[in-house]
Amino acid sequence: MDTRNLLYLKPPNTPAVLLSDVRAAGWDAQVAENPNEARAKINSERYHVGLALFDSKNYIDFTGENLTSMGGSMKWIALLHPSQMQNEHISQMIQENFYDYHTLPADSKRLLPILGHAYGMASIPYKPLIQQGDAHPGEDEMVGTSPAMLALFSNLRKIASVDAPVLIIGERGTGKELGAKAIHERSSRSGGPFVAANCSTLPPALIQSELFGYEKSAFTGAAQRQIGRIEAAAGGTIFLDEIGDLPMDMQINLLRFLQEKTIERVGGTKHINVDTRVIAATHVDLETAVKEGRFREDLYYRLHVLDLKMPALRDRNEDIELLARFFFKKFTTEKHKNVRGFTQEAIRIMSNHDWPGNVRELINRIRRAMVMCENGLITPADLGLERRTSGRYMQTLAEVRSTAERAAIQTALRRTHNNVSKAAQELGVSRVTLYRLMEKCSLHNARGTI
Ligand SMILES: Nc1ncnc2c1ncn2[C@@H]1O[C@H](COP(=O)(O)OP(=O)(O)OP(=O)(O)O)[C@@H](O)[C@H]1O
Ligand SMILES: [Mg+2]
Repeated sequence: MDTRNLLYLKPPNTPAVLLSDVRAAGWDAQVAENPNEARAKINSERYHVGLALFDSKNYIDFTGENLTSMGGSMKWIALLHPSQMQNEHISQMIQENFYDYHTLPADSKRLLPILGHAYGMASIPYKPLIQQGDAHPGEDEMVGTSPAMLALFSNLRKIASVDAPVLIIGERGTGKELGAKAIHERSSRSGGPFVAANCSTLPPALIQSELFGYEKSAFTGAAQRQIGRIEAAAGGTIFLDEIGDLPMDMQINLLRFLQEKTIERVGGTKHINVDTRVIAATHVDLETAVKEGRFREDLYYRLHVLDLKMPALRDRNEDIELLARFFFKKFTTEKHKNVRGFTQEAIRIMSNHDWPGNVRELINRIRRAMVMCENGLITPADLGLERRTSGRYMQTLAEVRSTAERAAIQTALRRTHNNVSKAAQELGVSRVTLYRLMEKCSLHNARGTI
């Protein structure tokens, strides 16, 4: 059995309340006086339980994010004054990040059982939320609550209720294929097959036989009759992805199919009736392709009876956090047991990122972050977004510098109870320089003067 060890994080110059009782109860308790010191200790030894003493002035130093980003599976307990629970920021932080809390006055009879429970909880082997081998419920679920997605869901239901061709338009990774499947599943054809074909990856020489099939001896190597994907989707739906890349001579065949509902296999002479719904998708502007003579106008109008426009992720900011948490949960397995979620900074950076690769990019970044994450919560660096700034969130170097400067000064002042000399010493600058910087950052010490 592991030693029952505990990390006691408390502000400097504050007595470690109940420390002797905790040690007397058999805990190996180490003390840290700031989050950096705590992190260093956690990195060199495994702790099950953390105890964080809040001090009326210094609680900011102990934000839940700081604490819980340390030691993934550790359970943290807060020790605080009852009045501090009235503070919305603190109570929310406790609720989100702590296993439990103990209100002062200190009472070892109440605290020790909490520590014991926390130890027990931290020692349970991790059970993933999503069981491997499940039928992956909701695998094709479309997630979104933004106005753009709600409008999309409503269009999708209408489109599913009629049996006409559909053109899905959207940037890469916006969910075009997922949308096509959703239409199929909600349509009267849901009992039939859903077959996909990508016009940009099928070799031009094979595309005709892939889509329309071939008869025995249609060409060298055609030892027997083979049906094509349109026929394979009979009674269901064929999804033609990247329709803009369909070669011109194939476009006429597809048009004929849409008009007459019949196909001709390669090497065949018969017109075969096939009942398949066509859903096509494109990430390029087909109208331009029509104007430039790369896409048949008649086919364009035939396909475009109904259309579904997939919104870019950057145009539905509200969904980013929701999707991030959805995929995080979806990909969580035993091997990510120490990763519990995202830092607030990661959520902020994700909400400001431009997402050129849309949902597919979000998925890839989250998968990567779950592997890279070392400290319990996914950071912008884990997502590969640390230095990125999008078009809509651009900071100059001077702004970044001054924000960092301001934060460092505030922290030092808080830690030293607004003692400017001590804060200056901590920051490695002279008092005069610190006063000048405080003036520049419009910071005042506790007495309201600088
Ligand atoms: N709203 C959504 N909710 C949940 N998952 C989504 C959503 N939109 C897209 N996805 C997921 O994102 C990935 C990319 O979606 P999909 O393949 O449908 O996009 P696409 O537009 O066809 O992309 P591409 O242009 O790269 O072919 C898939 O794994 C899909 O399940
Ligand atoms: Mg696709």
